[in-house]
Amino acid sequence: MTRIDKLLSSMGYGSRADIARLARAGAITLDGARLTDSARRIPVTPDLPSRLMIDGEALDPLAGMVILMNKPLGVTCSHKDSGPLVYGMLPDRWRLRQPVLSTVGRLDRQTSGLLLLTDDGDLLHRIISPRRHVRKTYRVTLARPLDGSESAIFAAGDLMLRGETTPLAPAELTVVSDTEVLLGITEGRYHQVRRMFAAIGNHVESLNREQLGGLSLPADLAPGQWTLLGASEIASIFE
Ligand code: URA
Repeated sequence: MTRIDKLLSSMGYGSRADIARLARAGAITLDGARLTDSARRIPVTPDLPSRLMIDGEALDPLAGMVILMNKPLGVTCSHKDSGPLVYGMLPDRWRLRQPVLSTVGRLDRQTSGLLLLTDDGDLLHRIISPRRHVRKTYRVTLARPLDGSESAIFAAGDLMLRGETTPLAPAELTVVSDTEVLLGITEGRYHQVRRMFAAIGNHVESLNREQLGGLSLPADLAPGQWTLLGASEIASIFE
């Protein structure tokens, strides 16, 4: 059982005093009936978002949400950076949620594509844990044509990036054209894909993440759009 004012406050709807005011004004309903006592305790069940309405709108998703975003170019995976942030693409009040929403790993400002955000810390760590080997697949366009050696170099598992002391795990390269490839990696080192191509004398012109484990970026999700994931889609990440 959880107090309604505590729940709504943790979801960014305002302070407990704000919630009490909303309740007094008749803006909160539970199963269609006005809820005037904002200190009332209710069971937090998965169906609550469809039963509890604020200002006539269904409650936001409860804690444990997983968002799949098609990250556009030019936005940063950070809570506090200058310029547009990925969090700015979500409803404003979600920035006040506790537990906080975080990106599952990061994409560079100039990388687009599949980005997850979640407030589920355990899930986040399971996805980014190197031990899980969740494969991230990127579509890469290159400044210079491939010379044919790249697949073997990346697959060997002994490529060293400048300034690092351990070699990269094997990565899988699929050639699309002489300047376009799909690259699957299981690590998440800083600027990894750009640095991998720099290490072999090429240069990444554009980078878009298309897959995370068995989860693909839906073709109909335009850059900047996002959707909530269900349990089976979350499970597909680990397939
Ligand atoms: N590798 C990069 O270089 N940048 C990204 O954003 C992701 C992987």
